[in-house]
Amino acid sequence: MARLSVLDLQKLKTDNQPIVMVTAYDYTMARLVDAGGVDMVLVGDSLGMVVQGREDTLPVTLDEMIYHVRCVNRGLQRAHLVADMPFMSYQLSPSQALQNAGRLMQEGRAQSVKLEGGVRSAPAIRSIVEAGIPVVGHVGLTPQSVHAMGGFKVQGRTEEAARQVLEDAQAVQDAGAFCVVLEGIPTPVAQMVSEALHVPTIGIGAGPHCDGQVLVCNDLLGMDLSFKPKFVKRYASLQTTIVDAVQRYGHEVRAGVFPDAAHAFSMRKAPTKLKKLY
Ligand code: KIV
Repeated sequence: MARLSVLDLQKLKTDNQPIVMVTAYDYTMARLVDAGGVDMVLVGDSLGMVVQGREDTLPVTLDEMIYHVRCVNRGLQRAHLVADMPFMSYQLSPSQALQNAGRLMQEGRAQSVKLEGGVRSAPAIRSIVEAGIPVVGHVGLTPQSVHAMGGFKVQGRTEEAARQVLEDAQAVQDAGAFCVVLEGIPTPVAQMVSEALHVPTIGIGAGPHCDGQVLVCNDLLGMDLSFKPKFVKRYASLQTTIVDAVQRYGHEVRAGVFPDAAHAFSMRKAPTKLKKLY
């Protein structure tokens, strides 16, 4: 089965078909979400928090991203694969951005890259796009700027701030991005931006009027029930399912119930002389 291209994704917007995107960080999850029929899979630098257990995404390195992108690529048959560019892998210069985007494509086998920032990231986006690498923009709440924003805070809440979000999204589109993630902005602002852009918008905490939606797979699957921001909807409660399964396994091992004959191997001949082997 062919993987969805940037043209297929653009057509979804033209046809008014919502785009479904989710994150994945390894081969097994990639196979599962692909089987679930998502259109785009993002190897997000959110892996710093949900895979590595860090406080924010800032410590994630390009080599770590490439490793996870490679793993996810092997699990996909249909979904378009986007690789996140981690903090400080594109901010220094457009040529640094291009070189590192190239590594995600060449070594990770991504189909496109995503980077955060609006007006200020436009030169980096332009340089990557001019080399023939598709780019996804990301504006609004940009987690790599957590310290500048004073925390993971909703952006665009005043008229002036909303205008800044629109300007950022337009700068990203003008620089050649084929798609823009809108994160953590009020519903009317996301609607205005989605109507103003000709490229698809993908929302997370941005309400229902975007051209698509993205969620972190661990959040939508309920793998950490202690984490529940307002914008997350859980479609499963895997934390409960997994902890329960591991507890039952533990009980059976301790009770001598597992493994039983059905889960063990027999010899071809009856082991009458086995004792003589040692
Ligand atoms: O890193 C990530 O997972 C992201 C999405 C939440 C959009 O950037």
